[in-house]
Amino acid sequence: MIKIENVEKSFGELDILKGVSLTINKGDVVSILGASGSGKSTLVRCINGLEKIQAGTILVNELSVSDKKDLSNIRKNVSTVFQHFNLYPHLSIIDNITLAPIEVLGQSKEKATSKALELLQVVDLMDKANAFPAQLSGGQKQRIGICRALAMEPEYLLLDEVTSALDPEMTSEVLDVLAELARTGTTLIFVTHEIAFAKKISNRIVFLDEGKVRADLDKDNFFSATGGKKDPRIARFLEKMDSK
Ligand SMILES: Nc1ncnc2c1ncn2[C@@H]1O[C@H](COP(=O)(O)OP(=O)(O)O)[C@@H](O)[C@H]1O
Ligand SMILES: [Mg+2]
Repeated sequence: MIKIENVEKSFGELDILKGVSLTINKGDVVSILGASGSGKSTLVRCINGLEKIQAGTILVNELSVSDKKDLSNIRKNVSTVFQHFNLYPHLSIIDNITLAPIEVLGQSKEKATSKALELLQVVDLMDKANAFPAQLSGGQKQRIGICRALAMEPEYLLLDEVTSALDPEMTSEVLDVLAELARTGTTLIFVTHEIAFAKKISNRIVFLDEGKVRADLDKDNFFSATGGKKDPRIARFLEKMDSK
């Protein structure tokens, strides 16, 4: 379980997260929605300890991200995929995927390679194992980014706008992979602007607004006129996204 309680995060004078509380259970598929600048990426970065929080607590399976000696264990359980793929350009695809399992988890090269090949099959990119990142399209790179995160066999996968740099066809390639993960029970925390997709795969929707959780609702409730949409702020946001 990830337990976020009263988290405050500021950059200098700028208060970004203003008392965020949120619990994510194993098997949850939680979409985080909200306007640009509402603090979604900052929250993701706080969850895996890339940003230091000023107040509150974030516990991952009871371990605190604010505790330096816990953080390396947390990072073994939480993998993050960002908007930009950040693959190592000088390493082949297979080496990109096996690097962390070998270096961080201490897996043998054989074990890491066989797992990587399995993952490449899932995202339908077996034929790219020995290619280099520069030889791949954006959608392919992002599917490799997801493989690389999954190679760590994380309990929690954080995805921050993983499709926003992709064209529609590549987006659907990547979303197909995520839908499959959701179906097979991977815990996903999914920051996205793909509302229709969020509606399809999530069990819960969290709406962040100016650094606060404005709604944390069961998916059906969030999209219903008598639930989330009763909040004019949320209704307006959804209308605006719909008309895009
Ligand atoms: N490293 C940083 N230094 C200063 N301000 C930042 C930093 N990172 C994010 N911010 C500010 O925090 C706010 C929230 O950003 P972000 O979490 O990226 O929002 P979102 O992902 O919802 O679009 C924005 O106003 C952004 O400019
Ligand atoms: Mg963001």
